[in-house]
Amino acid sequence: MAIVAPSLLAADFLHLSNECTLVNNSQADWLHLDVMDGRFVPNISFGLPVIEQVSAIVTKVCDVHLMIEEPEKYAEAFKKAGADHLTVHFEVCRNLHRNIQQIKELGMKAGVAINPHTPVAALQDILHEVDIVLVMSVNPGFGGQKFIPHTLVKIQELRKMINERNLQVYIEVDGGVTLANAKQITDAGADVLVAGNTVFKSADPVATIAALKSL
Ligand code: DX5
Ligand code: ZN
Repeated sequence: MAIVAPSLLAADFLHLSNECTLVNNSQADWLHLDVMDGRFVPNISFGLPVIEQVSAIVTKVCDVHLMIEEPEKYAEAFKKAGADHLTVHFEVCRNLHRNIQQIKELGMKAGVAINPHTPVAALQDILHEVDIVLVMSVNPGFGGQKFIPHTLVKIQELRKMINERNLQVYIEVDGGVTLANAKQITDAGADVLVAGNTVFKSADPVATIAALKSL
């Protein structure tokens, strides 16, 4: 069964506590929280004060996806705000190994995210250090975009790398995940499905989460 991580970016920000309760009462495993800085990505989302309040009432694992430059400056603050997982982008980390160690030393699971143009082979020498690889299946910055089909090849390659080396690393797929393509994504080897619009814009988000889990 897939791990399902609804992305709060697509939630109703005027009723965040209702949205959090909905997630708590669903079969969701993780709550995915997208932080954007308007520099690494051409959009700004929410940050520490929102995550602090959300994590206080959410009973699920808080899976924070940092789409920001210089993530090392904020790792400790995200831990204090309640992050259980902290994922940084490969493309912004000049000292990725150090950044991953920092996150783990702070007591969080450490993830590395790769953009659609970044080959999975680039992770060869960091894969054994991380808990999560987040494969972006759209260009980061916005919810509601279309899934890039070539991502399936990347997931298969990554699954092979992980299995060959007998590692315990989650493959998380983020962007454009729908009820129609979720099975292909898990069949390709993904463990975790992030879904924003598919969940929060559906008529029955709790049922949609259950459907994603059972695919
Ligand atoms: C995009 C974010 C995603 C986004 C996914 O940059 O990283 O997590 O919320 O939204 P959907 O599922 O609507 O494509
Ligand atoms: Zn994300």
